[in-house]
Amino acid sequence: MATGTKKLGKLYGVGVGPGDPELITLKGLKVLKAVSYVFTASSAKNEYSLSSRTIEPHLDDKKQLINLSFSMQKDTAVREKYWEKNSLLVLEKLREGKDVAFVTVGDPMTYSTFGYLMRTILEKEPETDIEIIPGITSYQAAAAAAKVVLSENNQNLFVMSGVEGIELLKNAPSDFLRSLNNIVVLKVYKKYGKIMKSLKELGLVDRAILVSNCTLKNETIKLGPELDGTSNQYPPYFSLLLIRKNEN
Ligand SMILES: C[S@@+](CC[C@H](N)C(=O)[O-])C[C@H]1O[C@@H](n2cnc3c(N)ncnc32)[C@H](O)[C@@H]1O
Repeated sequence: MATGTKKLGKLYGVGVGPGDPELITLKGLKVLKAVSYVFTASSAKNEYSLSSRTIEPHLDDKKQLINLSFSMQKDTAVREKYWEKNSLLVLEKLREGKDVAFVTVGDPMTYSTFGYLMRTILEKEPETDIEIIPGITSYQAAAAAAKVVLSENNQNLFVMSGVEGIELLKNAPSDFLRSLNNIVVLKVYKKYGKIMKSLKELGLVDRAILVSNCTLKNETIKLGPELDGTSNQYPPYFSLLLIRKNEN
């Protein structure tokens, strides 16, 4: 119960999928139509919000969309300030008794700001009723677009962030590396050159597929031999690598 007399509204974390408005779930859409406010997220550096672009075609003009900007800086203290500020904005509506949704690209429990927001809200209002509607992740959509199997039979799938490069794989014990059949690297963006260099050292460039802006109009799929890791150019922010160590 909120500090006042009003019952707290319910918070929904809604995954809206990789960007194609048709890849949102029926349940997610139902929630977005029902709630009083929909919060979207963008980087503090620019106001672009893919989640907002994804849901706009589904909502009527009267729907209250509120964009929250978040810092993507490495410094946790800076990022915490944004979680704090944004959690208070969401709580303000919850304390008015309104149901609200926070939308996220892909899935809310996979590399999403929603986790931070949820924890910050629960610290302030531990009784908050929260429901999470999963979404199709970027890498599921990328595997479908590239028509490659992510894993089958007794294969292992390893999903990692590329923010620090992929030294983790380079330094992994050889039997661990051997046990990974398929690898997904998200957030390749500015570390692309470094990642490609490591892939080369691992002998995996030919096994890699770079998928950018998946399910969007400017989607591109580049196969291993086409990948250039030597230039200083990096791919769009919405890019990931699928690395299939075995043929499938
Ligand atoms: C903050 S993470 C968000 C992950 C998301 N929650 C998910 O479930 O896929 C951002 C990273 O997801 C990947 N990504 C998200 N949408 C994408 C898309 N449409 N095409 C390619 N990569 C995408 C990129 O690697 C990007 O750097």
